[in-house]
Amino acid sequence: MSVAEFSQKHFINYLSNIRGVSKNLTTSTSNNLHIFSSLESTNQTTWQLINSGAPPGTIVIAIQQTGGRGQWGRNWMSKVGGLYMSVAFAPHIPISQTSQLTLSVASGIASSLQNYGLPVKIKWPNDLILQNRKLGGILTETRVNKEKISHAVIGVGINWANSVPETGINLQSYYQKQSQPEIFSLEMLAAIVFQGLNSGIKQLLDSGIESILCSYTQLLINIGQEVLVEDCIGKVVGVAKTGELRVQLNPGSTIPLTKSQISPLEICLKPGTINLGYGQYS
Ligand code: BTN
Repeated sequence: MSVAEFSQKHFINYLSNIRGVSKNLTTSTSNNLHIFSSLESTNQTTWQLINSGAPPGTIVIAIQQTGGRGQWGRNWMSKVGGLYMSVAFAPHIPISQTSQLTLSVASGIASSLQNYGLPVKIKWPNDLILQNRKLGGILTETRVNKEKISHAVIGVGINWANSVPETGINLQSYYQKQSQPEIFSLEMLAAIVFQGLNSGIKQLLDSGIESILCSYTQLLINIGQEVLVEDCIGKVVGVAKTGELRVQLNPGSTIPLTKSQISPLEICLKPGTINLGYGQYS
């Protein structure tokens, strides 16, 4: 199936030309690809397809979404021009590792986009950042069976040519100030993002979270950032295997009772419990 604004053929062609993408992945993707002109949410449709027996690797792309879902129950504005994509997985990893999926995908996609000349970074836990503005985000939803993640739907939204809020950026406006764009179409962007998403998950499953954390923290804009945690000042020193943010409090601080302590002055913060804001815009 092909939709006027998104060519399945171009997407598959770009995918097969990306270095490191196996023939198997290209073939299974073309067999399990669903493209829609308008949907409520690609994550929702992916779950419906899974419920009807769709296999892991199923991919759903929409030209626009009418009820795009963001993290923490927020909406994700999904006008025509953006990339809205969800992919089904069956990772069979313990539920305690749910946040590791998001970290892996963020790291995989940011690295993939960097290979195409975009200095994309990560804002903990799941924001893709370009020039200190939000370029995109990741939403991981899971289904659990016997303490394991039996199914996961990973949704990615990337600003390509859609309008964005003040803290956002789209690639078209970024490219207006660059001499040599390396990504030429929404289909090409989709192929690069899909490859990054898959390689992030593969790295997690093959090499484990330590390997992901190594790449993830190198891409993280928050390392060294000063933060205020219940009247205590500290700085971000990393991300734990659980996906929590590691904060080193200033000497003399009293550890907030509500936070988990991992060493005399180091605490861990759960995703959604602190807003790290955006840096100075350039
Ligand atoms: C965030 O809040 O940063 C995550 C946004 C994730 C948005 C994407 S768009 C494709 C997929 N379908 C959805 O409904 N949400 C995700």
